[in-house]
Amino acid sequence: MSQITITKLQQLKSAGEKIAVLTAYDASIAALADDAGMEVILVGDSLGMVVQGHDSTLPVTTEQMAYHTSCVARGVVRALLIADLPFMTYADRSQAVASAKLLMQAGAQMVKLEGGDVVLDAVSAISDQGAPVCAHLGLTPQSVHRLGGYRVQGRGAQAADELLQQATRLQDAGAQLLVLECIPTELAQQITATVNIPVIGIGAGIHCDGQVLVCYDMLGISKGKRPKFSKNFLTENNSVAAAMSAYVQAVKEHTFPADEHSFDS
Ligand code: KIV
Repeated sequence: MSQITITKLQQLKSAGEKIAVLTAYDASIAALADDAGMEVILVGDSLGMVVQGHDSTLPVTTEQMAYHTSCVARGVVRALLIADLPFMTYADRSQAVASAKLLMQAGAQMVKLEGGDVVLDAVSAISDQGAPVCAHLGLTPQSVHRLGGYRVQGRGAQAADELLQQATRLQDAGAQLLVLECIPTELAQQITATVNIPVIGIGAGIHCDGQVLVCYDMLGISKGKRPKFSKNFLTENNSVAAAMSAYVQAVKEHTFPADEHSFDS
């Protein structure tokens, strides 16, 4: 069982094989996700909501992310491990490099940050220092107050074109992976076909190179209403391990996400 690298993800994109990604915040869930065949495990700052109980990801600190990253790292053998840089910890080049350093030293193999043109400097600064970067466009939860809520992004020709241009510029700045959250299926398809780097969707339709879900949503244990784009894989499967395998299989066989988990233009 060989370790998943960014080169392997690139090969999967080229071969048209879908990439399965799940969030994890502790060693036990991470080990199950790894065993189920997840190619990537993301220590998302969604932990601020599903673990800490906040109503946004804004309160999460770099120290908390480093702690959870180190826990997850102990459970992972094969998957590529990505950790989120929290809110306002990459506002300039030197802050971005210092924050990325903490997460990489905690066990991350790539860091993720949210935003378009405003983070181009941070992307190039971190990747120039040798740490791989995953960009995140569309619904960027750290900007929830500026966006006016958790809403679909990229609707309308101008907004769609802006996202497409930003995706290309993030790639040019050094991003090696891209997450698209809550954007119309057609736009995600266009971005996935335009950029060379693998594109992972959440609420971005079936045409992305891979899919990511928050593990608590995928197991149906998040408090509140299930987001439209997620699916509870535990209901039809009798164990957490079986639910994770079913999710991986659904991603690989292109049966998740269905139209009911996706958004129109
Ligand atoms: O924080 C997170 O879990 C994420 C995923 C939803 C992509 O960013």
